[in-house]
Amino acid sequence: MFSLTPVLVAVVCILIVWIYKSADGSVERRTGELKARSEPRPWVDEDLKDSTDLHQVEEDADEGQEPEENIEHVPFSHTQYPEKEMVKRSQEFYELLNKRRSVRFISNEQVPVEVINNVIKTAGTAPSGAHTEPWTFVVVRDPDMKHKIREIIEEEEEINYMKRMGQRWVTDLKKLRTSWIKEYLDMAPVLILIFKQVHGFAANGKRKVHYYNEISVSIACGILLAALQNAGLVTVTTTPLNCGPRLRVLLSRPSNEKLLMLLPVGYPSKEATVPDLKRKPLDEIMVTV
Ligand SMILES: Cc1cc2nc3c(=O)[nH]c(=O)nc-3n(C[C@H](O)[C@H](O)[C@H](O)COP(=O)(O)O)c2cc1C
Repeated sequence: MFSLTPVLVAVVCILIVWIYKSADGSVERRTGELKARSEPRPWVDEDLKDSTDLHQVEEDADEGQEPEENIEHVPFSHTQYPEKEMVKRSQEFYELLNKRRSVRFISNEQVPVEVINNVIKTAGTAPSGAHTEPWTFVVVRDPDMKHKIREIIEEEEEINYMKRMGQRWVTDLKKLRTSWIKEYLDMAPVLILIFKQVHGFAANGKRKVHYYNEISVSIACGILLAALQNAGLVTVTTTPLNCGPRLRVLLSRPSNEKLLMLLPVGYPSKEATVPDLKRKPLDEIMVTV
């Protein structure tokens, strides 16, 4: 019996050392995680993710899909222009879009409802993965709602600028003279918040896969920007960092919708200025093989 005691003591000692080491390791890991979180890091797409209430997305995703094999195919209607006309149209379209700028000073002059309806209809002509049309455009005109949106964005943006995004992000934005104060959110007569539907619902209530939903909605946003420019309105593309979940709840949007972009829309204010940015010439953006 007594001869066993030293063995027992040795086993207990080994156990104590082992337990201590494991605890130490997890503390180190935790300290590392906390350090990584508080350290400045680049602006990454990860920051735009909003994974609230989406735990079951993958599960029965395919089950609700209605097969659409029997959809009718109809003759395609097309307008072809003579070469000279094509050159003229493409040149004029380029010149129109080359005048587009991100304008952060917007007047409070009202814009016609019909124009907003038309530009959103135009955005809705975008191609989408398997024609799922995974977008929702929320149009806000109500001054109180606009102000609530501003409050949420300014609160989060102040944290972004002061600590969350780090010095490099703040330095990169310096040339644009942006800050967490977003007066245009109250001033612009219309705010358009574009949500991507990360999945849809089939007629039977089951989840429907929305293939490439982010790419599809981003294309729709590009077309929307072009349509606004064509109508003589201005906007600034904004991606309110870390505001998605709060804005979604404020606007009573369902949890399958995630905020992708917010566009304040209106006319430029009289004293509007823009940074004197230059665009890359063709030979820097095009490679012909
Ligand atoms: C995906 C994306 C996100 C952007 N986010 C913001 C933003 O949050 N705030 C802002 O003031 N501008 C934002 N911008 C606007 C850019 O700063 C602007 O497009 C760029 O400086 C070029 O200027 P331009 O649009 O006048 O050509 C964003 C642009 C893009 C494409």
